[in-house]
Amino acid sequence: MFLIKDYQTIFCPNGCKIFSDGNNYEYWENKETTSDELEITNFLKSHISQNVKLLHIGVGNSYLAKSLNNQGIIDGISISSNEINYAKKLNLSNYKVYFSNKLGKDSLKFLKENYYDFIIDVNLKSFSCCDIAFDEMFRKYSNLLNKNGKILTAKDGLNWTRLLKPVYRFSFKKFFYRRLKEFDGPERNKLSMNDCLKLASNNNLNLEEIINSNIISFKKQN
Ligand SMILES: C[S@@+](CC[C@H](N)C(=O)[O-])C[C@H]1O[C@@H](n2cnc3c(N)ncnc32)[C@H](O)[C@@H]1O
Repeated sequence: MFLIKDYQTIFCPNGCKIFSDGNNYEYWENKETTSDELEITNFLKSHISQNVKLLHIGVGNSYLAKSLNNQGIIDGISISSNEINYAKKLNLSNYKVYFSNKLGKDSLKFLKENYYDFIIDVNLKSFSCCDIAFDEMFRKYSNLLNKNGKILTAKDGLNWTRLLKPVYRFSFKKFFYRRLKEFDGPERNKLSMNDCLKLASNNNLNLEEIINSNIISFKKQN
């Protein structure tokens, strides 16, 4: 494995250089769906109707879009072009996916005419470069919510912190290929329920724990 040094980057609002390379990088397109995403998808199945609008941050293997079976209108983003290509090949008419780093200074601006009933991000702070970028990202999520809209995440994912770095890997089947590799992340990327309460109040949202589940929701107030 070799670290890739000359990948394309953009800036976060605090000036950190962050990954934004549209070349093919493997990441989660062929991996197992996380238990957090399984749980949120199940929850959504019984809470959405045909016209509900969803924004899925970090589409992974597109389990969410595949499972909702053409229910709802789904936009998704990811920083892995391989995940995006995988998603596009599914040919789901209600599903659009975009390459975008959620922490970028200008990220999510292309969605500005859209408002969502649900924004799903099971790794809310896990990959953040700094607190300023994270707070700004969360503010953008909140501004993208419809009245009564909700940001959904999961308690387990709040404790998960990782850094993604671009690397070359070698296999006899694929020779050299690019991949996003996970490294241990900083402690500051873990969120407690107290942190979530502060985030909610700073953004005029109501924090709710969904009973008998691992899911938490930040609901836009009327
Ligand atoms: C651990 S995978 C989880 C995939 C899927 N959500 C699941 O739970 O099975 C993390 C996902 O977040 C995406 N991701 C990581 N950092 C990101 C960032 N800064 N901006 C946008 N997407 C990001 C990855 O491309 C990947 O889809």
